[in-house]
Amino acid sequence: MNLNLTVLPGDGIGPEVTEQAVLVLRAVADRFGHQIHLQQKLIGGAALAAFNDPLPADTIQACVSSSAVLLGAVGSPAFDHNPGHLRPEAGLLRIRRELGAYANLRPAVFFAALEDCSPLRAEIVRGTDIMIVRELLGGAYFGQPRSIEGEAGARIAVNTMRYGENEIERIARVAFELAMKRKKKVLSVDKANVLECSRLWRDVVTRVGKDYREVKLGHQYVDSAAMLLVQRPAEFDVVLTENMFGDILSDQAGGVVGSLGLLASASIGGPVGLYEPVHGSAPDIAGKGIANPLGAILSVAMLLRHSFHLEREAACVEGTVADVLAKGARTADLAGKMHKAISTSEMGRRVVEAVKTPS
Ligand code: IPM
Ligand code: MN
Repeated sequence: MNLNLTVLPGDGIGPEVTEQAVLVLRAVADRFGHQIHLQQKLIGGAALAAFNDPLPADTIQACVSSSAVLLGAVGSPAFDHNPGHLRPEAGLLRIRRELGAYANLRPAVFFAALEDCSPLRAEIVRGTDIMIVRELLGGAYFGQPRSIEGEAGARIAVNTMRYGENEIERIARVAFELAMKRKKKVLSVDKANVLECSRLWRDVVTRVGKDYREVKLGHQYVDSAAMLLVQRPAEFDVVLTENMFGDILSDQAGGVVGSLGLLASASIGGPVGLYEPVHGSAPDIAGKGIANPLGAILSVAMLLRHSFHLEREAACVEGTVADVLAKGARTADLAGKMHKAISTSEMGRRVVEAVKTPS
């Protein structure tokens, strides 16, 4: 198969982890006989620095004309004081919208080798395998009006949380379809005791749920869901939620399974899928060669599965990551007192070697 990809390394640790993810992708392609064609483009702070635009037209053009996009991370303190549309994050939000990527799949899987990494006791976290389905193009992230206005000292800021029934229905279907292939449980997370958006959300999700009689549907307020996620993470299967709640809960899920650096994501629903680790650009450790590349590498697995239906190849990447961790490979975020930390590139190299020489 020919895999035409655009790679957007972005900011901070984005380029370092993406480099390792691409090496793993090349190794998998070699092993299974696929051809890879890559073009690399700028996004976020890197694009602002070069073109004063966090998402240049050339980047959009490359993305829409490829079969999938692999992204590193976006965000840089250098632009913290820029107006919203000239912040790195604006580039990420726009590319999600340009690609029609309304469904953000964020698996949080606990690796058995990492019992000493979770802040939770092993008997609590063992068996955790959660699929967070985050709505990605609606809610307060995109709702209009939005503004900051007024004189210093008396400014007023406005954001709008907005959802249409169609937006809720399409993301709910993604969650139910995924649940059908898993443990057949969907937990819909909202704040229906306070927000109209959440009341509509609950209504529509309940209606869609009637088409999936085999799936056990539950509802939970987001505050309570946050508590349950640390108390009983192993009981979760598919979590269905709106944009901002999903942003927050997915970082929390990263903490639960041992490190945010492990979490991958797929942003799908449109013609071209976008794959990126859940972690941010981590400017504090950028350039040091210590970032965990596994979130990016596992995003390659999601890319193979969701954009190309290459299930064997995806499973190969995921199985290899589990093996490498089982053999004791730990980047600094996972090392603790028991292990010596290895670098970003050494972690990547171990995954590549294991892909090339299956045991
Ligand atoms: C994420 C990130 C982004 C988000 C930021 C960088 C805009 O935190 O992908 O979770 O909030 O969606
Ligand atoms: Mn986030």
